[in-house]
Parts: sequence; C-alpha cells; structure tokens
Amino acid sequence: MSGVAYVNGAYLPLARAGVSIEDRGFQFADAVYEVWGVRDGRLMDEAGHFARLWRSLKELRIAAPMAQTSLRAVLLETKRRNRVRDGIIYLQISRGAAPRDHGFPNPPVSPSVIVTAKSLDQRKITARMERGVSVITAPDNRWGRCDIKTVGLLPNVLARQTAMEAGAYDCWFVGTGGYVTEGSASNAWIVDKSGALRTAPLSANILHGVTRAAFIALARAHQMRVVEESFTVADVKEAREAFLTSASNAALPVISIDGTPIGDGKPGDIAARLRAAYERAA
Ligand code: PDD
Repeated sequence: MSGVAYVNGAYLPLARAGVSIEDRGFQFADAVYEVWGVRDGRLMDEAGHFARLWRSLKELRIAAPMAQTSLRAVLLETKRRNRVRDGIIYLQISRGAAPRDHGFPNPPVSPSVIVTAKSLDQRKITARMERGVSVITAPDNRWGRCDIKTVGLLPNVLARQTAMEAGAYDCWFVGTGGYVTEGSASNAWIVDKSGALRTAPLSANILHGVTRAAFIALARAHQMRVVEESFTVADVKEAREAFLTSASNAALPVISIDGTPIGDGKPGDIAARLRAAYERAA
C-alpha cells in the first residue's frame, strides 16, 4: 500500500510506519480515534470531530498530545501528502508505549499519535447511495461506554463480518428492550410511519455521531420533524425509509433489514434530500 503516515512527529512511507509493540493501543485497545470526511479537499464537520476527540481523551484520562491548531496542521499535511481530495483522514491517539501492565504507566508516557489519509472511490460511493444497502441485526454485546470513540472495536468487527457473510452491508445492533442502538460504524435512522425522522437519543449506548448531529440540525432547518427516540426492528420494518449516517458515508439509504424490504424497497427521498443539503452546506 502506498501512502504516507504521520507517526509521533514524523511523516513516513506507510510500509515503514509503525509504533512499538508495547504501545497500549496495540496491547489493550487503550486508544481513541477520529475520522474526518474530506470533500473537495475540505474537512467535513471539522469542529464536531475535534470536540468529540477531546471528550474521548478526557473520558479515558489520556493527555492531549498537542494543541488543536497543531493537530489540525498535521491532519492537513497528511491529507496533502496523500493527495486526498475526497476521502477520509484517520487519527489515532493511544496512551503511549510502556511495559505491559494494566494500570496506567507511572510516570506517564507520551501519547502515541498516528494520522493516515486515503481517497475513497466516489463512483463506488455514489453507486452504493443509488442502490441502497441491506442490514442484518444482532444483539448489542458491546461495553457500556459506546459514547467514547475507542479503538476497542471487536464486537463491531465481528458484526460487520457476520453481515458481509450474510450478503448484507452492515449490522444494526439491537440493545435492551429490543431497541436498535446503531450500526457497526454508523448511526441508524428511520423515517417512521408518521413521517418523522427518528434516531436513538444520545446515551452511553451509542457513539454521538458528528454526522448525526449535522443531519438533525439540517433536517430541523428544513422544517422536517426529528425525534431523538429509539425504535425497534419492527418499527424499521414498518418505516417509510431508513438510512445510516457516518463521516465516510454521509447518509446511506438502507433498503432492507433481516431480509424484509423497508418502505418500497428503494432508497428514500428524505435521505436523498438531506444528503444533498449536507453536501451543499459543506
Ligand atoms: N465510524 N457509530 C459508530 C459505532 C461509529 O463507528 C461511527 C463512525 C458512527 C458515526 O459517527 P460519525 O458520524 O461521527 O462518523 C456511529 C467511523 C466513520 C469509522 O469507524 O470509520
């Protein structure tokens, strides 16, 4: 794989970029990450992703490795070196490298910072948007702090793999009471049978999606009714349409769940309208 990564102060060819095997991100998933979408060379929802990054670090008591202005310069430089116009920037910050011991290193070590950037094939993304995708469901077996964006993603990885093996694009997690929490790497939405946009309320059970927040604001600005209320799989099956939101996909229509078509089984208008408004606002 070609490309350049930023690792702890240096820009290196990906093939030579690495951290210590004692890095706590590698040993314990003791690390947080962020993903910024890049459109036309610009970072999408830049401030929201930074705000969530600082919150994730604070919740895990990992020291901020540098000021936002410096980190922003690293993101932009990594994007530039990888010639990304449309794609994503990935940032990971771990507690640092230290001899393996579960408690925090004492004295503390410097956090490890890595940044990569890659282009995404816009034709493929557009084709997926136009087709819509299928999801399956699985019990939400993740930990109790899904609001922190940590690299501890094993349940998400297994759920996505199960979905792929079932011929679906993604898996929506179903939590307590039979309510859909979110997707393996996205927030879940429906346009319910009353016509209201519905997505799960903010809690420790979901990641507080930056794209989710942007879409709520946009929908309200377009006089659409949005309710932050959980929904069940049965609600999805009765919904007019469904979609998922994330930095890499904006809003991606979901046309079936567990093999049952949603609405007329085609991508819905509301998701398309919101996505167009989102791209315009960017
Ligand atoms: N995923 N929920 C989960 C579990 C996620 O991993 C993500 C993002 C989201 C959507 O958040 P946002 O709108 O801020 O991207 C919700 C990123 C894109 C990833 O893991 O690659």
